[in-house]
Amino acid sequence: MNLPNSVRIVEVGPRDGLQNEKQAIETTTKIELIERLTDAGLRYIEAGSFVNPALIPQMASSEDVFNKLSRTPGVTYAALTPNIKGFERALAAKANEVAIFAAASEAFSHKNINCSIDESLARFIPVMEAAKAHDIPVRGYVSCVVGCPYEGEVDPEIVRHISAQLISMGCYEISLGDTIGVGTAGSVRKLIETVTKDIPVERLAVHCHDTYGQALTNIYAALQLGVQVIDSSVAGLGGCPFAKGATGNVATEDVVYLLHGLGIETGIDMDRLIAAGNFISAALGRNNQSRAASAITKKTQ
Ligand code: HMG
Ligand code: MG
Repeated sequence: MNLPNSVRIVEVGPRDGLQNEKQAIETTTKIELIERLTDAGLRYIEAGSFVNPALIPQMASSEDVFNKLSRTPGVTYAALTPNIKGFERALAAKANEVAIFAAASEAFSHKNINCSIDESLARFIPVMEAAKAHDIPVRGYVSCVVGCPYEGEVDPEIVRHISAQLISMGCYEISLGDTIGVGTAGSVRKLIETVTKDIPVERLAVHCHDTYGQALTNIYAALQLGVQVIDSSVAGLGGCPFAKGATGNVATEDVVYLLHGLGIETGIDMDRLIAAGNFISAALGRNNQSRAASAITKKTQ
């Protein structure tokens, strides 16, 4: 079977996970989560976002999080930046990388970032220029790559087109976001086959939400096509404030269980990862949404 030897996990829990939480979460809790994740071996953490705080209040503390966390050498602490204002905030907070985010559906683009897809790409140009000037790598997201909560099915050719534009603007990698988790192994396979007509698979990541319980299957389909970067969220935290009903990202614990079972290296210590997931779940007053973490926790209690 043609599977990669190692996979890089992009941990999005502290951003994609927590952005959706309505309850107040102390900065110290956010920081402890990030530090526990790096102790578990994660080397890429999306630690916050610099967006309009009136729209995503939970991320209003991102400056504080970045400024106060104790950084582990070799770890990338990344932030989402929708425009140049966001980039300037990220730069001041010493984010190591930033991510810009476009959508494959016009309706979602308007709901999420209040502009059309083309307008969003135009807004990203100054971000790309500033990032280049400061030597900050930029990751590109495309949301709604399989389906949109407002428009329904999404044509993979549209995703191909937007991904190619983000790469030509200077993004080093494109994360394909199944924001509402409607993809199946079939649609994800078709998507990756289409996007790789323009972009080498080494520059693609998958970002699966688990709404329909398909995330791990979709990830397995992506691995078989050569994808080596997987976004996931500890304890399955999250959802999207602009995609009603979308559940969290696939849980990092479940992804790591799958990868280790396949003999694929991640550099992650499963026990510490589960402890990090249990820590944040307890802080939020709910059960860990990862099936693997829950099963292993029960077995060892
Ligand atoms: P806009 O309303 O078009 O922007 O928002 P604006 O320039 O007219 O500004 C409106 C107000 O926002 C102004 O404040 C600005 O200063 C402020 P006011 O004068 O009214 O007091 N503002 C900002 N403040 C702080 N930092 C900034 C910033 N920019 C403007 N960077 C904008 C456009 C994109 C900013 C807005 O729509 C926004 O912030 N949206 C939030 C989107 C978001 O965070 N969504 C969730 C993340 S995306 C996601 O989860 C999907 C993903 O995980 C992939 C997947 O799952 O598929 C990535
Ligand atoms: Mg997401």
